Amino acid sequence: MNKLKLDEFDPIIKETIKNELHRQETGLELIPSENFVSPAVLEALGSILTNKYSEGYPGKRYYGGCHFIDDAEQLAIDRAKKLFDAEHVNVQPLSGAPANIATYFALLEPGDTILGMDLSHGGHLTHGHPVTYIAKIFNFNRYKTDLHGLIDLEYLREEAHRTKPKLILVGYSAYSREIDYKKIKEIADEVGAMTMADIAHIAGLIAAGEMNNPVPIFDVVTTTTHKTLRGPRGGMIMCKEKFAKKIDKAVFPGFQGGPHENNIAAKAVAFKEALEPNFKEYAIQIKKNAKVLEKKFNEFGYKLMFGGTDNHLLLVDVTPKGLTGKQAEAALDKAGITLNKNMIPDDPRSPMDPSGIRLGTPAITTRGMKESEMEIVANLIEKVLTNHDDENVLETVKKEVKELTGRFPLYPELD
Ligand SMILES: Cc1ncc(COP(=O)(O)O)c(C=O)c1O
Repeated sequence: MNKLKLDEFDPIIKETIKNELHRQETGLELIPSENFVSPAVLEALGSILTNKYSEGYPGKRYYGGCHFIDDAEQLAIDRAKKLFDAEHVNVQPLSGAPANIATYFALLEPGDTILGMDLSHGGHLTHGHPVTYIAKIFNFNRYKTDLHGLIDLEYLREEAHRTKPKLILVGYSAYSREIDYKKIKEIADEVGAMTMADIAHIAGLIAAGEMNNPVPIFDVVTTTTHKTLRGPRGGMIMCKEKFAKKIDKAVFPGFQGGPHENNIAAKAVAFKEALEPNFKEYAIQIKKNAKVLEKKFNEFGYKLMFGGTDNHLLLVDVTPKGLTGKQAEAALDKAGITLNKNMIPDDPRSPMDPSGIRLGTPAITTRGMKESEMEIVANLIEKVLTNHDDENVLETVKKEVKELTGRFPLYPELD
């Protein structure tokens, strides 16, 4: 075995990690699906648990030597059940996309109809975008948001009666409002459809009791563990006991092989963090911070999609200011502010150069930033967007970003 440390054996990779650490520490991270994990989560993730094969589930493995692995996986399951009030949990999905795909195969037959949100209105690629293979296997139909930006429940009901889906799917990547799961379950019951919520973005807010929880209401709920939930990159499926066997079989052996147990242990650590009282404070602060950005963007004259935000993210049409989402993303990137271009509902522009930007507060809230810093952040964004082709302004903002982030150290123990 190579006994050299990373900087001795592979200084190029060591340097790359250092460069990325510097970028994360000195920039403003506003991508709403990103966050910063704790040193405890990092330690579990980088542990020797990565060495172990453990196909199967706790107590029922295809490999020997799994008793400690079983302890870690069972702990992750038990903590997730407590966090979300779930009857059954599978912590093995490698990420959000595999969790969704395994769920479709667990509940449906090829050719079955799924009713999901129009993708430009906030849905995710794995909810049936034509570029995905899953869209070739199942028949996806669409509902939309109404003129006020809320989910159009009447339209959803009409579409459900018209298309008779086997599954109604909610939960989104770029939708900033609360979801009425009870109403949607009622509609599903009218047409005999199963219900699935993908809470990848808002899982941390739900775990903290700061957004409605679909887990007790819906048949199946999928999530990622690395967004607002602030764990390692990964996925998870929660379901009613009656779907437990089908879900477990779909994840393994249906779709995946050996679980990544270092990752599962890191999920357990993140769930322990999310069960602590200060995680609720964190979730409350995420929402307060997003509200400050909402107020400031309204003052600056931008068009906020869905009329504003109830969660951690904002979807903003920047075209009224004379630039596109792509130009906005590029200019902000040069100034050390990271967010992403995004389609807006029924966007007349293309996915690679859409009308909007999507930004969120989970990562900067983890750093400890509060309302007063959000005012500064919004002002810096406005300065960049109104001077997006002025390199001097971008350079000045970059210095201001560095000064601001310098007041909120991220991983001092890694520097
Ligand atoms: C709603 C939703 N579901 C699923 C996913 C896919 O997660 P992953 O990238 O971990 O596969 C995402 C990712 O952004 C998402 O926003």
